[in-house]
Amino acid sequence: MPDDLTHLLKREAYLWGDDVADSYHERAERSMDSQWGGVVSPFIDGFDVDYSCTVDFACGRGRNSVKLLERKPDRLILMDVNEENLAFCRKRFSGISAVDYASCDGASLSELPDGSVSFFYCFDAMVHFDLEIVIRYIRELRRVLRSKGHAFIHHSNYTASPGGSFRKNPHWRNFNSKEIVAHFAVKNQLKVVGQQVINWGGTSDLDCLTMLRRY
Ligand SMILES: C[S@@+](CC[C@H](N)C(=O)[O-])C[C@H]1O[C@@H](n2cnc3c(N)ncnc32)[C@H](O)[C@@H]1O
Repeated sequence: MPDDLTHLLKREAYLWGDDVADSYHERAERSMDSQWGGVVSPFIDGFDVDYSCTVDFACGRGRNSVKLLERKPDRLILMDVNEENLAFCRKRFSGISAVDYASCDGASLSELPDGSVSFFYCFDAMVHFDLEIVIRYIRELRRVLRSKGHAFIHHSNYTASPGGSFRKNPHWRNFNSKEIVAHFAVKNQLKVVGQQVINWGGTSDLDCLTMLRRY
């Protein structure tokens, strides 16, 4: 775990461990069909995504992985900072040879080799991460994506209360925006090929879907 981010990770990275896991994951699982059909699939299908080596990042208990498997990846890597979630997924997807697992330290993608990923996918997780952590991951995307590989990031578009606790913000959104993510993507030599601001839980324009592509 990077020393300079330890304070943030201690505060935030282990959210959705056992304490709140069951209530969140059970509810989230029930919403997956409508979120996938209503929001995710219409957005990602607008791009020429190569699913051959897909990463379901901050996979939780794998509800997105079920949908990603329908896209027939040769390899689907489930990655999360929370080992309990990975253990849950190991049972859920046991016997599916395309599925692999990778730990993460909460701020880097060091388990993923350079140029290995054709599609990086992250839904309903980075919305909560501190901006400093999101920036770390954006930097790593440039390294892990293949040439012409895509990254789908669902992130916060909430810029009220800078510096405040994200737990006090609507739906626990952390400070971030469409423009901030585009800025750091471009600075890290990633092309912003699409962005769509979306409503979440009745709050208008709270989130953003961003699709990045490596040159
Ligand atoms: C709200 S859950 C969403 C899980 C899944 N994406 C879904 O849609 O069901 C957030 C997930 O992010 C993971 N997480 C939290 N902080 C993280 C970090 N810094 N790096 C990677 N994963 C993290 C948690 O362990 C949890 O599995």
